[in-house]
Amino acid sequence: MKIAMVASEAFPLAKTGGLGDVVSALSKEFNKLGEEVIVVLPYYESIKHQAIAYPQYIGEYDVNVSWRKERAQLYKVKVDGLTFYLIDNYKYFGRNSFYGHFDDGERFAFFTFACKNLFAYINFIPDVIHVHDWQVGMLPCVTREDKHPMNPLKSTKFVLTIHNPAFQGLLPRECLSDLYGLPEYLFENGTLRFKDQLSTLKAGIIYADKITTVSMTHRYELTTEEGSMGLNNVLNLRQDDFVGILNGIDVEEFDPSKDDHIEFNYNLVNFVKQKEANKEILFNELNIKNSGKPLFSLVSRLTWQKGMDLVFSACYEMAKKGCNIVILGSGEYQYEQMAEQLRSMFPDLVAVYIGYNNELAHLIYAASDFFLMPSLFEPCGIGQMIAMRYGTLPIVRRTGGLKDSVEAYDGTNEKTATGFGFDPYDHYEMVRTANWAYDNYWNVPLRKQLIKNAMKYNSSWNKSAKAYLKLYKSIN
Ligand code: GLC
Repeated sequence: MKIAMVASEAFPLAKTGGLGDVVSALSKEFNKLGEEVIVVLPYYESIKHQAIAYPQYIGEYDVNVSWRKERAQLYKVKVDGLTFYLIDNYKYFGRNSFYGHFDDGERFAFFTFACKNLFAYINFIPDVIHVHDWQVGMLPCVTREDKHPMNPLKSTKFVLTIHNPAFQGLLPRECLSDLYGLPEYLFENGTLRFKDQLSTLKAGIIYADKITTVSMTHRYELTTEEGSMGLNNVLNLRQDDFVGILNGIDVEEFDPSKDDHIEFNYNLVNFVKQKEANKEILFNELNIKNSGKPLFSLVSRLTWQKGMDLVFSACYEMAKKGCNIVILGSGEYQYEQMAEQLRSMFPDLVAVYIGYNNELAHLIYAASDFFLMPSLFEPCGIGQMIAMRYGTLPIVRRTGGLKDSVEAYDGTNEKTATGFGFDPYDHYEMVRTANWAYDNYWNVPLRKQLIKNAMKYNSSWNKSAKAYLKLYKSIN
C-alpha cells in the first residue's frame, strides 16, 4: 500500500511533542510491515541547522493559496530508513519556531496546498493520505472540493488523527475564501463552521474517510460534552467512522537493557540494583542527596493540560516526607516558577532542569521510582509508557490513554497492576494517591512485582500499526 503521512512534526527532524514521535514511529512500523510510506513536513528553519540529515533538492512548483501565488521548494531525505519530503518556502518556514506566529493560518494553508500538489509532482499517488491534527485538517477538504476530472487524488482515501482536541485551527470565516479559495456556502450551511469560525480540525472530521484518536478512552471522551472541547456533536455525526487506536512507543529507542544514555543497563532480573546505581549517577549529576526515600519524577511540558497544579501539590507533600523529586521540562512561566520555588524550599532533595534534555530524560526514567502524570486530559500520553518500560511506576489521573495503558494498584491486583491512579481532578485525590504509592514503596516484594508487571507491558507499535492498516483497508 502507498501511504503518505502528512503532519507538522515528525521525529527526529521536527518535534515539540508526542505528535512528532507518533508520526515517525508509526511510519517506521509500516516500513517494517512492507508498506510504501513517505512522510511530508514543512522544511522548518531548525531542520536546516540540524546535523542529522542533509536533504537533497528535488525541484520546485507553484502553489496557489487562494489568490496568492507562492513557490514550494522540495527536498528529500532519508533518516533511519524513513523517506521524508520537506516543503520549503522561506517566508513561511524561515522562522525560529514551528507555531505561534500571527499568520499560522496562512502558513499551514500554504503547506496544505503544497501537499495537494506534491504527489503528482513526485509521481507517488498514495492509496491513503493520513493527516494529523489541525495544521493539515483542510487537506481532505480542499482535495475533495477540487472537482476537476483530472484531480490526481480522486481515489485517494483520507484518514485524520486527532492528537490534541484543544487545538482546533480556529480562523476568522473570511479565511475560507481568503486562504482556501472555497465558496462561502460551506460556511453558511454549517459544513466548516465551528464556534462561529472556520475550524480546520472540524474540516478534517467532516471530509476524512475515517477519523481516529489515540486511545479508546479518549475516543469515548471526545463523544461527550465534558471531554470533547465542543467536538462531540460533529464527532457523533461521524461515529461509525471514528475509532480509537492506542499509540505505542519506540521500543528500540526506549530499552533499558540497551539504552546508551544510561550507565547501568538492566532487565527483569537485575533492575533493583541497577536502577539504584543509576539513581546515584543522577543525584551526583544534579547535585542532590539521596534521602533513601523514593524518587518521584516529572518529565513533561509544564502546562495546564499536564496537570501541573496537582503535580506541585504532590511534590510538596512528598518532599515534606523527605522524598527526592526531579523535574525536567519547560512551559508556562507560573509552573517553571513553582518548580524553582520547590527547589529552593528543599534544595537537598529537589532538582529542577528547565528545558529539554534527551539524555537526562532517559536517565530520569531509568533512575526513578515513581513518575507523575496526572493530566487534566491526555489523548494517549507517552511518558507513562516509557516510565513503565523503565520500571518506574506511573502515578496517573485515569483519563484518555493514561486509563488505557496503566492499571492502578488497588490493594488486590498485585499480579497485574502497573502503577497508581485516581479519577477526579482534585488535589486531595492526587496527594492521597502519592501517599498510597509512598506507603506501598516499603513493601519490597509488592514493589518488585509491580515493577515487573510494568516492565512487561507491551508498548510496541506493531499492534497499533496493524490496526491502522486494517482501518485503511476497510475504506472503500
Ligand atoms: C498529543 C497528546 C498526547 C498524545 C500525543 C501523541 O500530544 O496530548 O496525549 O500522546 O499527542 O498522539
